[in-house]
Amino acid sequence: MEAIILVGGLGTRLRPLTKTIPKPLLPLVNIPMVERMIRNLPEKIDTVILAVSYGLEQMLEYFKKTNVGRKVIIVPEKEPLGTGGAMKNCEKYITGTTAVFNGDVVTSINLDEMIEYHKSKKAKGTLALWEVENPNRFGVVKLVKGEILKFQEKPPKGEELSNLINAGTYILEPEIISIIPENEKISIERDIYPKIVGNGLYGIPFEGYFIDAGTPESYLEANFKLLDINIESENNELKNKVHIHETSKVVDSIIGPNVIIGPDVFIEKSVISNTVILSDSKIYGSTINNSIIGPNISLNHDVENTIIAPEGEKIF
Ligand code: GDD
Ligand code: MG
Repeated sequence: MEAIILVGGLGTRLRPLTKTIPKPLLPLVNIPMVERMIRNLPEKIDTVILAVSYGLEQMLEYFKKTNVGRKVIIVPEKEPLGTGGAMKNCEKYITGTTAVFNGDVVTSINLDEMIEYHKSKKAKGTLALWEVENPNRFGVVKLVKGEILKFQEKPPKGEELSNLINAGTYILEPEIISIIPENEKISIERDIYPKIVGNGLYGIPFEGYFIDAGTPESYLEANFKLLDINIESENNELKNKVHIHETSKVVDSIIGPNVIIGPDVFIEKSVISNTVILSDSKIYGSTINNSIIGPNISLNHDVENTIIAPEGEKIF
């Protein structure tokens, strides 16, 4: 079975960090987002298709040197084709029922259960759904007896039909991908789902966690959540909600809670909390809270709520 992962977005909300590292390659507790997603897939998914536009060179290079235990096909787009256009661009590689993921979500969804539900309903498409308080920055659905009867992408505040949002994970029959127009910029959420509601589109709410890691706040939250659930803690130091890469060094400092330090980092005489430090950075005499620093940054002053990346700084 194939999975398509949509990894072509510009990562605008994570700039300037994403000017040098495309969002899918940003680490979540030291493993790139997209690699983490691939490693978590059920075994029955033997082929992963990456729909890429922005960041193509780095993605090709990364997957050339990294074995993720499955066949990976990288499908480039000359121009960003949108979420639907990107799926269409991958159509020739799919052979049947396909799982599709937004590449920036961290969730506890059980894909096997989702596939089973999809088959039991004889659905054309099944969307994972998550309940939130403020749904207006997401896709919102009206769900009746498991069937999606309306889909609104990012509705204006007050017009949301429910609190159930599209969690960015789909099981789709090839039929849905076949109705997407070719070589056009198409949003699956705006142009396709609203047209096929009530006609074989189902939804399955799940519990646990869901984080769209596409903003500075949610990128940090996703890192801290993964620290919490202690995924892949082998070979790493994981105490007091702190994760320090084995090649990094910390001297005379207070670290934690919620601190993730990437490879080849050196920290001295600093106080760091709720922060991700990316590789090759040097921190001296700084108090840092709620920030994203690196890669390759030298810092010797205090910062809060800030991204400091090679291409610039942004307060959030
Ligand atoms: N290949 C490709 N080409 N991928 C794209 C393109 C494109 O033109 N545009 C976006 N993507 C990828 C992004 O990289 C991301 O992984 C995914 O598609 C979703 O795009 P975002 O830009 O992150 O969308 P969003 O977060 O505003 O909204 C989407 O996700 C929400 C859940 O997190 C929508 O699917 C919402 O309906 C949903 O609720
Ligand atoms: Mg997103």
